[in-house]
Amino acid sequence: MKRYLVTSALPYANGKLHIGHIAGSNLPADIFVKFLKLKGEDVIYICGTDEHGAPITIAAEQQNTTPVEIVKRYHDSMVRDFEGLGFEFENFSGTARPVHHKLAQEFFTNLLKKGFINTDTTNQWYDEKADRFLADRYVEGICPYCGEDGARGDQCDACGKLIDAVNLIDPKSKITGNTPILRETKHWYLDLLRFENDLWVWLESKTYWKENVRNFILSWLDDGLIQRSITRDLKWGVPVPLPNAEGKVLYVWFEAPIGYISSTIEWSEQIGKPDKWKEYWLNPDTRMIHFLGKDNIPFHTIIWPAVLMQQDKPYVLPYDVPANEYLNLEGQKISTSRNWAVWVEDFLKYFDGELLRYTLAANAPETKDSDFSWKDFQNRVNKDLADVLGNLANRILRFSEKHFNSKLSTPRTYTESTRQLLEFIGAQGEKIELCYSTYKVRKAVNLIIDMAREGNRFFDEAEPWKRIKTDRAAAEESLWVCARVLQAVSVFLYPVMPKHMTTLRKMVGLGDERPVWDDFRKDTPEYVISDVKVLFL
Ligand code: 2FM
Ligand code: ZN
Repeated sequence: MKRYLVTSALPYANGKLHIGHIAGSNLPADIFVKFLKLKGEDVIYICGTDEHGAPITIAAEQQNTTPVEIVKRYHDSMVRDFEGLGFEFENFSGTARPVHHKLAQEFFTNLLKKGFINTDTTNQWYDEKADRFLADRYVEGICPYCGEDGARGDQCDACGKLIDAVNLIDPKSKITGNTPILRETKHWYLDLLRFENDLWVWLESKTYWKENVRNFILSWLDDGLIQRSITRDLKWGVPVPLPNAEGKVLYVWFEAPIGYISSTIEWSEQIGKPDKWKEYWLNPDTRMIHFLGKDNIPFHTIIWPAVLMQQDKPYVLPYDVPANEYLNLEGQKISTSRNWAVWVEDFLKYFDGELLRYTLAANAPETKDSDFSWKDFQNRVNKDLADVLGNLANRILRFSEKHFNSKLSTPRTYTESTRQLLEFIGAQGEKIELCYSTYKVRKAVNLIIDMAREGNRFFDEAEPWKRIKTDRAAAEESLWVCARVLQAVSVFLYPVMPKHMTTLRKMVGLGDERPVWDDFRKDTPEYVISDVKVLFL
């Protein structure tokens, strides 16, 4: 039986959630999961916070506190934000937990035993003033590939390439601002070269992947794989499980994706079925889908599958990696350090979380970077939601209450225009379903609003307020079919706005059970309109 295991990139627990996180990797996943649940599929949605690495320790040092405190503070704040936005994870864990440490160490040991890990003593940047090695983000400089300044020791944001910190031009320590020196240190390396064939074979079947993701990996493989260091000189992290390895931890990017598994194991334990995780992770029919932002592509499509391939259990490999581009804010790159972001916590103080879900879905950075602006937010809420959808619901349902005692009966025969509108609903439904299943949320949302627009046009043309005086049955028929449009919208838009669509669903007589996708095809002799209220205030 087909199963889905859906993940969102684990956000670093070093700051609050902003709209960029939501648009890039969380919302598309939550929408996809809600859609699959509407379709009755077996799906779990797994996430958690990424709690190690330089991003965490730098935040702790800057805020004069400990990594443990930072991790707790931001993990908790993210849980609150996700709740406020209506996310439904099966589990939201964290990588500093013992279950994760144990599993990450096992992964390392398995690779070591099988001979896929080498050791090497190389030169690394060392800050003499701070008396420590500068792992990853502790050093910044000019990117050796694209020449941009501000490249970090692990990756360049400008060109997306992974960087070996020693190749940075004009390096500077993040701690003291000093120019570091090179000093010898021993590390463990994943021998990626030995995975080259297997990775090619695996990738060959992924013809359905998004073009941006496929191109990225193919160019990586074409450049040739090199061994990658998977340990760091840091105090905070998963300790390297070997004697004589004090002060060495696993590289955060080696262990973080293992968090998808440890979070699933934690969930299995929480629900009292400790082996349940195996039904997903050790099942070749599982479709494992990783949602993430484009900067995370290399780790999920090369290093992570390689790590999974050589374990002691037959772990499932990613089925798809629908990476998104970036969301900008008012035309500028979102930046935590420059405080240029819309923080979810702030947004939720003033607005309903579903309005953000809608706006980000309608404007998702699926194929190119997109922009969030307050003007666009206002337009989407006032125009799409209030004027088009809210207005349709209000006119149809109020009119039905007033003139038909809140009951709309299915007509015995349809006029041609009613038939056409029903056909249109069916055809849109198929298109929307295809969009959701191929992660084209932006288009799905447009198709849904178009459908509501069509309902308004139909209502205007049918003029039930005039018809009611001469042909009551014709007036009822037009209201009935417009109510069918609303019922369909309540199902189709549910993955994006579950709370509002549950309200709409009750208003148009579909009851209060959790919806299923085929509800929109359901025909009953009579619909009872109830609890009509303004959908979008
Ligand atoms: O880029 C990031 O924010 C990382 N914390 C994503 C990790 S995804 C996974 F590997 F855990
Ligand atoms: Zn670069």
